[in-house]
Formats: sequence, structure tokens, C-alpha cells
Amino acid sequence: MSQPIANSVAFVTGANRGIGAALVEALLARGASKVYAAARNISTLDAIVARGEGRVIPVSLEVTDLDAIRAAAALASDTTLLINNAGVVASAFRPISDISTIDDLRLELEVNAIAPHAITQAFAPSMIAAKHGTVVNVASVVSLVSYPVVPTYSASKATTHSITQSWRHTLAPHGVNVLGVYPGPVDTDMARALPIDKTPVTDVAHAILDGIEAGVQEILPDPVAVAQGAQYLANPKELERLVSQQMMQQEAQETVAA
Ligand SMILES: NC(=O)c1ccc[n+]([C@@H]2O[C@H](COP(=O)([O-])OP(=O)(O)OC[C@H]3O[C@@H](n4cnc5c(N)ncnc54)[C@H](OP(=O)(O)O)[C@@H]3O)[C@@H](O)[C@H]2O)c1
Repeated sequence: MSQPIANSVAFVTGANRGIGAALVEALLARGASKVYAAARNISTLDAIVARGEGRVIPVSLEVTDLDAIRAAAALASDTTLLINNAGVVASAFRPISDISTIDDLRLELEVNAIAPHAITQAFAPSMIAAKHGTVVNVASVVSLVSYPVVPTYSASKATTHSITQSWRHTLAPHGVNVLGVYPGPVDTDMARALPIDKTPVTDVAHAILDGIEAGVQEILPDPVAVAQGAQYLANPKELERLVSQQMMQQEAQETVAA
């Protein structure tokens, strides 16, 4: 099932910066008729709302707040394209043996997995009634294979992937498409500290919209995602070994540099 971007009514979480902000810009450029831009601090949306010239509606949304989710779904009941983009990395380069990773995992599960699940639950009834719509969850390549430098984030994003599959199964009979996005490193605040090549955020946003328009169920929006997605499908154990080896090399280089 494909979903044209032109004339769609989109709802984007984490719309104030990074991939979310780039998605709002790309949606506007490709003719979306309305974009609900959701952020925790609504004043951070001022510039994007101004650029939208009436097509961007700011929505206050902390994605872990169930009452706020229900209010947003009621406000935006005409949504045809829901993009669960907001996400968090609680810590990186922290060994999984560290006790604080328990709290890291709790937060990451709340924001990266439970929130997209709860938001989809709140928006699904209006899409089911319309017998039409698309839900997009921004997962990660780490959903497919754990990156040892971000072990708890990887675990939370693996849950995002699983939730996406469950919702796909549940909503498909109602004409509602559920897609997952599995980016590699993207040049945003989230990946700022990673000393590796990153794909420009505008390229990623347009690749995501291309995937939505084509109805691709697993959208791989950058070269790392394409390579690791193919490896995952061909030989998941080999991908696990390769990623683990790369991370060990990176850690060794950082130790020498320090
Ligand atoms: N960058 C990458 O390399 C990469 C790779 C794969 C997947 N991803 C995924 O892509 C998505 C976007 O990431 P990004 O790179 O754009 O990250 P980012 O630049 O750090 O932006 C994260 C966005 O999520 C919002 N957010 C975080 N916690 C929230 C909460 N509790 N309630 C509401 N909004 C919240 C942030 O809002 P505030 O401004 O209020 O903090 C911000 O708008 C995430 O799901 C991320 O996991 C990113």
C-alpha cells in the first residue's frame, strides 16, 4: 500500500529538531496539506510554524504522557500519516555491567518503544474508521543488531521493531499500513559525539518519504542502513560478529588517542 505525501495530513513527534524537523520541512516541500508538529516545548516550533505559512499546527506533546497523547489524538483526528519519530539515547559508551544502565533502559523503553505503541493505540481508531492511513515508526539499524556502544538503546529499538510488526499485523486488515524506518548514523544532535561518517538529515528525511510513498515496510534511508539491512537479511550472525568487531576496533582507537 502506498501513501502519497501530497495532500496528506501528517503528525510528527519530536518535530522541533533533527530528523523530525527535517521530516516536517520535507513534508511541506512535497505538498502535505497539513502537518501537526509535536514537541515538548512548543516555543521551539516557532520557526517551523512560520515557514509552514498556515500548514504547520504546533502540538505540545511529551511522548511519555498518556493524557497528552490522548489529547493530541483528539486534536489531530484527521491524521492520515502518523510518524513516531521522537527518540532518546540515555547513554553511550557505558558498559552494560554499569548499574545505571537499568535506568537508561527504562527511559529508552519509555520514549523509544512504549510511546510509539501508546501513540499508535490513540491514533488507530480514527484511521480504522477512515479505512485508510499510514503509521511510521522510526527505529534504527540497532533494532536489527545490538551496537555494544549503545546496548540499552539497541534493546529499546529492537522493541520498537517488534511493536511495529505487531501493529502491522493488527492494522493491515483495516487498510492501515505500518512501516518501520531503520536509519544508520544521521547527522543530528543524537549522533554528534560519534566519530564516524553520518548521512545529512535532509537526505534521510526525503528517503523516508520516498519509502512511505512506495509503501516499503522496512525503510533503509541511508548507505549504512542499506548495507546492514542486506547483511541482516543474508546472515544475521555474521552482522553481529562484524558490528562487534568494528566497535572493539573503535574502542581500541579511542584508548590509543586518549
Ligand atoms: N541520529 C541518528 O544517527 C539516528 C539513527 C537511527 C535512528 N535514529 C532515530 O531517529 C529519531 C530522531 O532522532 P534524531 O537523530 O533526530 O535525534 P535528536 O536530534 O536528538 O532529536 C530527538 C527528538 O526527540 C524528541 N524527544 C526526545 N524525548 C522526548 C520526549 N520524552 N517527548 C517528546 N519528544 C521527545 C526531542 O525533543 P527535545 O528537543 O524536547 O529534546 C527531539 O525533538 C529517534 O527515534 C532516533 O532514535 C537516529
